[in-house]
Amino acid sequence: MAQTIQTIAIANGGGDCPGLNAVIRGAVRAAILGHGWRVIGINDGFDGLIWTERTMPLTVESIAGILPRGGTILGTTNRGNPFHYNVIEDGQKVTHDYSLRVLENARKLGIDAVISIGGDGTQTIARDLGRMGLPVVGVPKTIDNDLSATEVTFGFDTALHVATDAIDRLHTTAESHGRVMVIEVMGRDAGWIALHSGIAGGADVILLPEIPFTIETVCEKLRERAATGKKFSLVVVAEGVKLPARDPSGAEFSERRSSQVSISIGDAIRALLKQEVRVTVLGHIQRGGSPSPFDRILATRFGVEAVELIARGEFGRMVCLHAGEIESVTLDEAVGETRLVDPKGSMVRTARAVGITFGDR
Ligand code: F6P
Repeated sequence: MAQTIQTIAIANGGGDCPGLNAVIRGAVRAAILGHGWRVIGINDGFDGLIWTERTMPLTVESIAGILPRGGTILGTTNRGNPFHYNVIEDGQKVTHDYSLRVLENARKLGIDAVISIGGDGTQTIARDLGRMGLPVVGVPKTIDNDLSATEVTFGFDTALHVATDAIDRLHTTAESHGRVMVIEVMGRDAGWIALHSGIAGGADVILLPEIPFTIETVCEKLRERAATGKKFSLVVVAEGVKLPARDPSGAEFSERRSSQVSISIGDAIRALLKQEVRVTVLGHIQRGGSPSPFDRILATRFGVEAVELIARGEFGRMVCLHAGEIESVTLDEAVGETRLVDPKGSMVRTARAVGITFGDR
């Protein structure tokens, strides 16, 4: 029989993502209006379970108006793993295991279950706290859409809108000046944002981490366009692409932070084509601002279903989307596997069919 629940807590960890507040709102309203539970917000990942003053009561009134708001009212961090918590003591970096303290504080706060909203790292922490006895359920989160356990994560659609809008804007100025525009989008090791926004924005070239490319092949495509009178081109680059070993002059590509990979690519295209090239790194603009209606709805469904998992006593599970329905998988199944673009998949084939080049042969 499911244990009696009186109080639940909500924590979100890792990078923020449009729709986090919608999950919080959905869960708080379902917990209070549907079950009469008390809800505690944990600030900054799991930090609020290490230092309990970093918690806040969440009520229907206190969360009013957060549905369309970007970011998270709870704050977040991607440096707060309670199992390996780094602090500076006497000028030295020291790593603590605070996991037992988290369990003890949860007990002191009267928390019967925790909703953990996050990506792979956060859900791994949640799974491990669960194994120690903390009743947890997970909600997947990332703009990268690279979690294998769910068809889609909230935040991806919003990031896609931002990236597509940026490509549209670069399109008009590229056309006016006859320039090559290189635009770098996020996605970590997966090319989903680049692939989808590239198709939606009518890119000429899309460079993905999943498909090795050469600058020569990219430039061939741009030359072909120029030969048909198209003096401008749009090259969408996923931040996680792996640069070829050498640039077209034979020199080694200089080591750059991944967020600047498009600058190296822009330089190499400029050198080979002798054409004006401009580079835009979209960066965190893709993560900020109001979530799209799709993301608000998905986030709300996830938040509500997380509460229902708790009500049914189904701990150690993460909600997910499967064939349009909200289901759940174990946290073990949820973590560890990154969902990458299939180079032979239908989305890549569609792109190729409309003339988009991936810089491969
Ligand atoms: O995982 C989401 C994401 O935005 C990635 O696309 C990106 O590589 C990373 O987080 C950026 O992280 P940070 O906010 O720490 O710079």
